[in-house]
Amino acid sequence: MKKLFIKTYGCQMNAYDSARMADLLAPLGYAGTETPEDADMVILNTCHIRERAVEKVYSELGRIRKLKDGRDGRLLVAVAGCTAQAEGEEIIARAPAVDLVVGPQSYHRLPEMIARLARGAGERVEADFPALEKFDALPQAVSDAGVSAFLTVQEGCDKFCTFCVVPYTRGPEHSRAPEQIIAEARSLSARGAREIVLLGQNVNAYRGTDANGKSWSLAQLIAAIAGIEDVLRIRYTTSHPRDMGDDLIKAHGDIEKLMPFLHLPVQSGSDSVLAAMNRQHTADQYRELIARIRESRPDIAFSSDFIVGYPGESDADFEATLQLVRDVDYAQCFSFKYSARPGTPAAAAKKQIAESVKSARLDVLQKLLLSQQDAANEAAIGKTLDVLFEKPGRGATQIVGRTPHLNPVHVVAPQSMIGTIHPVRIEALTANSLKGSLA
Ligand code: SAH
Ligand code: SF4
Ligand code: F3S
Repeated sequence: MKKLFIKTYGCQMNAYDSARMADLLAPLGYAGTETPEDADMVILNTCHIRERAVEKVYSELGRIRKLKDGRDGRLLVAVAGCTAQAEGEEIIARAPAVDLVVGPQSYHRLPEMIARLARGAGERVEADFPALEKFDALPQAVSDAGVSAFLTVQEGCDKFCTFCVVPYTRGPEHSRAPEQIIAEARSLSARGAREIVLLGQNVNAYRGTDANGKSWSLAQLIAAIAGIEDVLRIRYTTSHPRDMGDDLIKAHGDIEKLMPFLHLPVQSGSDSVLAAMNRQHTADQYRELIARIRESRPDIAFSSDFIVGYPGESDADFEATLQLVRDVDYAQCFSFKYSARPGTPAAAAKKQIAESVKSARLDVLQKLLLSQQDAANEAAIGKTLDVLFEKPGRGATQIVGRTPHLNPVHVVAPQSMIGTIHPVRIEALTANSLKGSLA
């Protein structure tokens, strides 16, 4: 048996792809391992979203190179994911330890690339967008799916926000056929999944076409998956405010298995920054959208992504972002300093913001977001919430699960409850999670 170590950077779509690469390489005799030290093959599944993400990849490649040198070159090294797509040949030139480079739409070709390499022939870089033949080419998975499983339904992005590399690294928007997705959801549930998280860079722009030529929305897809008995919970991420259709908003009120938590990135609360970013909506349109979703599902919690220090962002623009945060009241958010990405329009903008200003703004924003997050967690204390148990927790006696709002909860309970939903009385807030007991 050979051993495969996969290190995953970036978003959930990369996590999904890593799992599929493991499935793909299993028939070649590769079993997963937790450390590169005892691996025969290492895959770095990379992210290109911010400069730091890319730096991490090259520093990891430095460590891998030492490991490989120490073994006289007996280690197969592949770079996959968005940096592979964006930098292809450059990676091979800069990091000689790398044997193969494969983009996010081409990794189904890994087995043939490995075979070619063994023969000492052929291309070492595969980075085109072959019209998403990937999903047809991937094998039926047989491995344990885990209690909460990712399922990519849509890939790519046509929105071209001015700061973002995703349209270049993941290619144009493409939705998988609903039958294929439903079959995969059934397979995941047969392999132990009780929660399915539907993934896409613009998941709510999903428009799949079935065998009869009928077009499906994300709401229709969710309704179909909700019909699978063993699927107890459904989530989806990441959504764009512009694609939040009426039927999807209504689904939040109608479909009980659809969890009351929505990641709806807004990036900024300033209309001029939103316009410059090409987000194509205003801050008030976003506020109205939040209000309509809350009307459909009053207990829904929101999260978002924010960028501070976008080129030209003034103090007043930043204040507008803080105001939007206060108005919406988020459960949990991600926030980033703007990172200029080669090839994107914003990178060429003149009024770049000083790093010190970005840091100061990020600090203020994160304090506000954290206070909202703490308040949301505190509000859970004393409540009884349904928890889906996912895995063993700290110590032998605990297991850990998540509330409908995605908060992790540690509970003393038997391992046999993993994979089931049970009401839990929330008792306390610890470092990054809640503590409770079976109700
Ligand atoms: N499709 C999602 C975003 C995917 S990227 C959406 O439209 O919201 C995830 C997050 O990374 C983005 O929401 C954004 O906040 C952040 N991000 C993307 N490009 C960035 C950049 N150049 N600098 C800093 N943050 C960035
Ligand atoms: Fe990037 Fe914008 Fe597409 Fe999101 S919608 S992936 S931020 S270009
Ligand atoms: Fe990163 Fe690519 Fe995801 S750039 S965030 S891994 S789509």
